[in-house]
Amino acid sequence: MKTLHWIAATVAALVTVLPASARKTVIPVETDHTQLILAVQDNGVLQTLHFGAKIADPSAFEAFITGRGTDNGEGPMAYPTTGGRYIGEPALHVRYADGYHNTQLFYKSHTVHANGNIVTTVVTLQDKVTLMEVKLVFDAYQKEDVLCTHTEILNGGKQPVELLNYASGSLYLDADQYFLTHFHGGWADEMQMDGEVLTHDTKVIESRRGTQATQCNNPSFLVSLDTDRLQENVGEVVAGALAWSGNFRLSFEMDEANRLNILAGISPFASTYELAAGQTFVTPDFLYTFSGRGAGQASRNLHAWARNYGIYGGGQINPTLLNSWEGAYFTFTTETLLRMIDDAAAMGLEMFVLDDGWFGKDYPRNGDDAGLGDWEVNTAKIPEGIDYVASYAHGKGLKFGIWIEPEMVNPQSNLAHAHPEWVVQSPGREMLQSRNQWVLDLSNPAVQDFVYGIFDNTMQLAPNIDYIKWDCNRVISDFGSTYLGEEQDRFYVEYVQGIYNVMRRLRAKYPDTIVQCCSSGGGRVDYGALKYFNEIWTSDNTDAFTRAYIQYATNLIYPACIMASHVSAVPNHQTGNVTPLKFRFDIACSGRLGMELQPRNLTEGERALADRCIRSYKEYRDLVFMGDVYRLASPYEGDYYALMYVSQDRRRAVVFTYCTKYQNRAVGAHVFRMDGLDPARRYKVTELNVNRSCWWGSGQVHAGDFLMNGGFNPSLLKTFDSAVFYLEAD
Ligand code: GLA
Repeated sequence: MKTLHWIAATVAALVTVLPASARKTVIPVETDHTQLILAVQDNGVLQTLHFGAKIADPSAFEAFITGRGTDNGEGPMAYPTTGGRYIGEPALHVRYADGYHNTQLFYKSHTVHANGNIVTTVVTLQDKVTLMEVKLVFDAYQKEDVLCTHTEILNGGKQPVELLNYASGSLYLDADQYFLTHFHGGWADEMQMDGEVLTHDTKVIESRRGTQATQCNNPSFLVSLDTDRLQENVGEVVAGALAWSGNFRLSFEMDEANRLNILAGISPFASTYELAAGQTFVTPDFLYTFSGRGAGQASRNLHAWARNYGIYGGGQINPTLLNSWEGAYFTFTTETLLRMIDDAAAMGLEMFVLDDGWFGKDYPRNGDDAGLGDWEVNTAKIPEGIDYVASYAHGKGLKFGIWIEPEMVNPQSNLAHAHPEWVVQSPGREMLQSRNQWVLDLSNPAVQDFVYGIFDNTMQLAPNIDYIKWDCNRVISDFGSTYLGEEQDRFYVEYVQGIYNVMRRLRAKYPDTIVQCCSSGGGRVDYGALKYFNEIWTSDNTDAFTRAYIQYATNLIYPACIMASHVSAVPNHQTGNVTPLKFRFDIACSGRLGMELQPRNLTEGERALADRCIRSYKEYRDLVFMGDVYRLASPYEGDYYALMYVSQDRRRAVVFTYCTKYQNRAVGAHVFRMDGLDPARRYKVTELNVNRSCWWGSGQVHAGDFLMNGGFNPSLLKTFDSAVFYLEAD
């Protein structure tokens, strides 16, 4: 990326006339390989001069500090506001008590504080007229090359103000062309890659769904510079994500000088935030990284940051499991569950998760139309109680997990009758249902206590509940809160803050419980939730073919360790696709492996394959959880999907290869070039999950440079052929 060229053009005229000044303020925000350069212009405006590869001597940027803005703007402002000369998309837009909208922030001070791997820079800006004060906080993760920024907005005036826009951060880039990759989709089809060359004006990616904010769009992106497509191994790429589990807005504005300004923050939709005199609003984190080596390195940076800092329990390996949902749905007895536990144990799985359907006494949860809100065991189904089932699992050497959906209530429930005022609603209007349920108003502290209690009480149903699947199965519509009264604009923000309050309290009491973030599948996949949750239910769609697309795209931003991926029945219940069991295992093994079917319905041969896949997975899964990902083929670009995970010392790797479409035999099967290996080492290649012996995988030893530059051919010709290889250096 170029240094922002508005400055470059201006400096040519000014550099000779401006005396070099020791007082010029250049603020480098740096990691091991990347650098954001902020600089205070002589008029006090804080600008972004550079984000990209690290330039050894940041003082070189002093020459780019000029005495003034131009007639049509202040150049690339580090945190653009509505006011002054700025006329683009604002990061901050304030309406003052007198009705005026003009905010002009000038540099006041900055501090830099190093704490091991994290260097924190705080730049304070102030409007001298309105006394609004904004702190731009940057945490620079040195080793991971990730910057994490948020903003603290203080109303330093004497009257309340209204925040109309309050982005977490602004990032300016400068290139000749920008290709934006983002993610769209829907239920059972989340995280589909979408992309376009940006043209002038503003592209906005927004969610207004309240809950399930990520079911259709994800608060993350990749921008490729000076190219018209996303490339895996070459080119400059900036990737970023907003850590917020509610309405969000990402905007990409290309101005008349071809600069791109990226703003990321809470969506201002129906969320004007009133800030009292002396009050501060803290925005969520916006994290981003720069790669000079394509999307691959950008993903590896984000993943390393996520494992080390961004995911609750990010450094741990979560157990394989059998989930009861697709195998039993709402129809089960204690006996059904015990037999599934027997089967899970026999197959070598490590946990049994009891999904929906176990609760509701007066309104039993025998379908999705009753019981949500009444979290007591349905003794008609499980007369012995949850402890009995959990103890049985523990006795078989399995962990035990259980499903809750604490933010929701069915109209057919005792809770709905006792607390109708807790439901999200607006006066005089029908309370609209979706999946026969309503949303509880988490902006209300009493509801937060109740939701905390659901989790807490469920944990008391048995002495050692190891895992909670937290679900959230509808979006917010017809929003409104009886608790907030006239302050309805706070609803969307305080709903999310309410969830985070609950999760903070729960984590203080249950630090070791594994908690899955599920929201009809991938409806809540963001780095805000992941501060509290160990993993996500990637999608309700368990069809391996569709999962190839969902998992490929999810993994561009989020690491494999959070991607729960289950093997289900064939044909699968969502798409009807018929994919071979081996293909389904090979896809599921590239994330956190689980099964979600009735094991009794498997044939003997299928059981044998399952045993084999589960056994070998446990031996290499540390690579899936902690290794560096290298993507070798994209299902979005051809008929193959392939990726590998390599250990940090590059001595071990696991390679997954898949064919999604029958290949013309005259052309022959695809040759994949591996990546991330040590070229000088020799690797023994062993094929997993099969009985057959394959030339490539029968213990042959190959040099790293041969595997990476010559490539290897796993002979995938037929639709849904797949092969998995384990590599170990000798
Ligand atoms: C959602 C989840 C599923 C399952 C059902 C239960 O759809 O995504 O995995 O738990 O709810 O009702």
